[in-house]
Amino acid sequence: MALDGADLVLIDKDLEPLEKVAEEVRRLGRRVLAIKADVSKWGDVYRAVEEAVKVFGHIDILVNNAGIEGPFDFVENISEEDWDAVINVNLKGAFLCVKAVVPYMKKQGYGRIVNVASVAGVEGNAKMTPYCAAKAGMIGLTKALAEELAPYGIRVNVVAPALIEGTALTDRLPKEQREFLARKIPLGRLCKLHEVADLIKFLASDAADFLTGYVHILAGGRARA
Ligand SMILES: NC(=O)c1ccc[n+]([C@@H]2O[C@H](COP(=O)([O-])OP(=O)(O)OC[C@H]3O[C@@H](n4cnc5c(N)ncnc54)[C@H](O)[C@@H]3O)[C@@H](O)[C@H]2O)c1
Repeated sequence: MALDGADLVLIDKDLEPLEKVAEEVRRLGRRVLAIKADVSKWGDVYRAVEEAVKVFGHIDILVNNAGIEGPFDFVENISEEDWDAVINVNLKGAFLCVKAVVPYMKKQGYGRIVNVASVAGVEGNAKMTPYCAAKAGMIGLTKALAEELAPYGIRVNVVAPALIEGTALTDRLPKEQREFLARKIPLGRLCKLHEVADLIKFLASDAADFLTGYVHILAGGRARA
């Protein structure tokens, strides 16, 4: 997005890796703000969005990408704490960011929201109940928002990738889980990071102006609609 001329506000609970990305964006000649915030906490999200608006004056695009995978285990072994953590970051986090940003988008009569779910939320994966439930929730959230916000010029879409190559989340998964998820992809390879980024960029662009409320599955043939 920075390559295409966007100024960026980057939000993450860890500031250090964020600063590295911010530096890359600056080198591309774009303005960037890196803010440490926990997306599952309304106070953090509200403060981050206020700061973003103070610096840039408006927010055109929101990408809800923060997510955690939670445990890989049978449902009876999932703790209440693990369930809450996964739902709070993946689903409540997206809701809170939307809640904070939408008043500004409504005022300007323009907005693009892209939620990052997972093919896991479309089709389900054994031993990943909180994650699948949260990602399926994001799909419902997207459809409701698309209908509610269409009259205000705000489009909302959701992407549902299969296992992505080389992210920290993927690298954290147990080998058994990575192999299980990789086997489910008919094209026989993992999703590439730039393929997810390109799809998000497309959905946020004017080229996608007639698309809202849709689930965009990026899964090498898995979970065909
Ligand atoms: N990796 C995959 O195979 C895969 C597949 C489908 C969907 N996804 C989704 O893509 C998105 C990005 O995943 P990734 O693989 O790059 O994972 P990642 O762990 O590399 O990145 C996720 C980022 O979210 C941040 N984060 C976590 N909790 C947060 C919180 N409470 N507040 C703010 N930031 C927080 C982390 O610090 C991290 O930088 C996630 O929503 C994930 O569920 C990933």
